[in-house]
Amino acid sequence: MQADFWHAMWESGVVGFQQTEINGYLQQHWQRLGLQGDETVLVPLCGKSLDMLWLGEQGHKVLGVELSQKALDEFLDENKLRSVAPLVHAHFCGYRLSAMTLLCGDFFHLSAADCEEVGAVYDRAAIVALPPEMRKQYAAHLQAILPAGTKLLLVNLEYDQSLLNGPPFSVPESEICTLFADCARIDVVAQQSLQRKGVAAQEKVFLIEF
Ligand SMILES: C[S@@+](CC[C@H](N)C(=O)[O-])C[C@H]1O[C@@H](n2cnc3c(N)ncnc32)[C@H](O)[C@@H]1O
Repeated sequence: MQADFWHAMWESGVVGFQQTEINGYLQQHWQRLGLQGDETVLVPLCGKSLDMLWLGEQGHKVLGVELSQKALDEFLDENKLRSVAPLVHAHFCGYRLSAMTLLCGDFFHLSAADCEEVGAVYDRAAIVALPPEMRKQYAAHLQAILPAGTKLLLVNLEYDQSLLNGPPFSVPESEICTLFADCARIDVVAQQSLQRKGVAAQEKVFLIEF
């Protein structure tokens, strides 16, 4: 999807993907990553997800990356958070909070240097927000910039794409396996059937190790 699409969505104020509760898969399966607890967690395409607050509460530092300044402003306002220091970066504006850095700009400008401290990644509604060609770029970019051994918890969605338009797009399990084929480990740790706009769908949670 082009940036204009997302900016228009945030401007409209209708962001159907926004969860009002912490994601259940995150709470249930995060410990499966076997982390110490103080790692920096990259949250690509983070929107104003409350899941970032939960990750912070677990002791993690959070690095969120989001195209929309409005999304990040709403995240700060709605959660009564304040920037503690100016953010200086060649490609991003954004906010530095006490244990959270929120970068405003294009995820594809994120570099390996930005991710030196990253030990884990949380993807909910990120890869499924992208059309097929961009998904390839997204998976390749993650693999290019993340330190070896980084663990990713990815909440995926599958349904018959001929019946509904995305986003969220349907991403078949076979595609996830192809996109992350060079990774050290790909496991499905949870799955659940649901209805999306009257169409049968399946959520699958992947644990991937880079
Ligand atoms: C479907 S939303 C999911 C947001 C969040 N992950 C959540 O669970 O609520 C996708 C988000 O990705 C952002 N986005 C899309 N393309 C992006 C890009 N290239 N770089 C950074 N953010 C992007 C959009 O503005 C939008 O907020």
